Amino acid sequence: MSPAEQNQPVPFLDLPAVHAPLRDEFEAAFATVLGHGGFINGPEVRRFEAEFAEYCQAREAIGVGNGTDALELIMSGLGIGPGDEVILPGNTFIATAEAVLFAGARPRFVDVLPDTLLIDPEAAEAAVNENTAAVIGVHLFGQMADTDRLLEVTRRHGLAFVEDAAQAHGARFSGQRAGSVGVAAGFSFYPGKNLGALGDAGAVVTQDTALADKVRRMADHGRAANSRFHHDLVGRNSRMDSVQGAALSLKLRGLDQANAGRVRAWEQYVNELPAQVQPVARHPKAEAVYHLGVVQVDNRDKVCEVLSAAGIGWGLHYPTPCHLDSAYTAYTESLPVVERAAERILSLPMGPTITQQQVSRVCEVLREATSATG
Ligand SMILES: Cc1ncc(COP(=O)(O)O)c(C=O)c1O
Repeated sequence: MSPAEQNQPVPFLDLPAVHAPLRDEFEAAFATVLGHGGFINGPEVRRFEAEFAEYCQAREAIGVGNGTDALELIMSGLGIGPGDEVILPGNTFIATAEAVLFAGARPRFVDVLPDTLLIDPEAAEAAVNENTAAVIGVHLFGQMADTDRLLEVTRRHGLAFVEDAAQAHGARFSGQRAGSVGVAAGFSFYPGKNLGALGDAGAVVTQDTALADKVRRMADHGRAANSRFHHDLVGRNSRMDSVQGAALSLKLRGLDQANAGRVRAWEQYVNELPAQVQPVARHPKAEAVYHLGVVQVDNRDKVCEVLSAAGIGWGLHYPTPCHLDSAYTAYTESLPVVERAAERILSLPMGPTITQQQVSRVCEVLREATSATG
């Protein structure tokens, strides 16, 4: 590390650096949209949907307003609603639970595996009852949940298997891409995601063309096929903007390379982290894309203080498990693995442009922090 690089702050995610090389292409694409004036669901959205479906090894992709809407539209599109229960891990972003509740169903939170912190298929199976309609496998931190075992469980009980792939664009499990395994998958293109838009956006990805048609129409006010004025479904407004479609197409071209940058950074973390800082494990069948660089550490608050003092960005995903959050007291459970992890997890700086020097700097500060905090 050169003296100039020593003690430099390290951002949690450097989005300006990610977007700088694409600036001219973004501006040209925006000018095209301004020129044709089809700002919503325009040709850029159609093109991106086709490209993203192919990327995910799926038949259909439908651009929607955001990832939460994508999951909710999947629930409603599958006819899941009042009286139904949906199994999901307690360790996820709150949006997964919101989608279940806004569809009118009841979330049933289950525990996660201690090594990957992803949904435990046995816990999911143990939670199945006569009201269960679906299991949501959340592919958290860039790693897919164990879809082999989750599919066994959902097939055995005749349940829908839905993927929350908001953090896993390009990840694989047993060679299959996120988005290609379940009955449908919800993706978020929130700007900080592996594939991020320049604002809010999301997609539903599915192999099921009938479900795709229903979701597409529900996201556009339930409009009947080939009709401007007739609505044969109760729908809503959750459509993708054309500028987001254009930006996403441009960024999709570089997604594999961007993911490779994250994998390199993670491998370096695993080699250089001090022993007191334990990286979240990868399942041998998983090809992870490290949306987040998550580790577990004791004395987390102290470690965070030292990181902040050194100008190192950090995050917590997630410090309050969904089943313990104050709006969710009606759905609380005892989930010891989630609860223990919530006190110890820490997300380190991660992104496609993070440098070797930056990862080394983070590890150096973590060494100081952990030796100081014991
Ligand atoms: C696991 C997970 N599910 C769902 C969502 C919801 O996506 P959005 O923020 O685009 O609504 C997110 C994104 O923040 C997420 O990380």
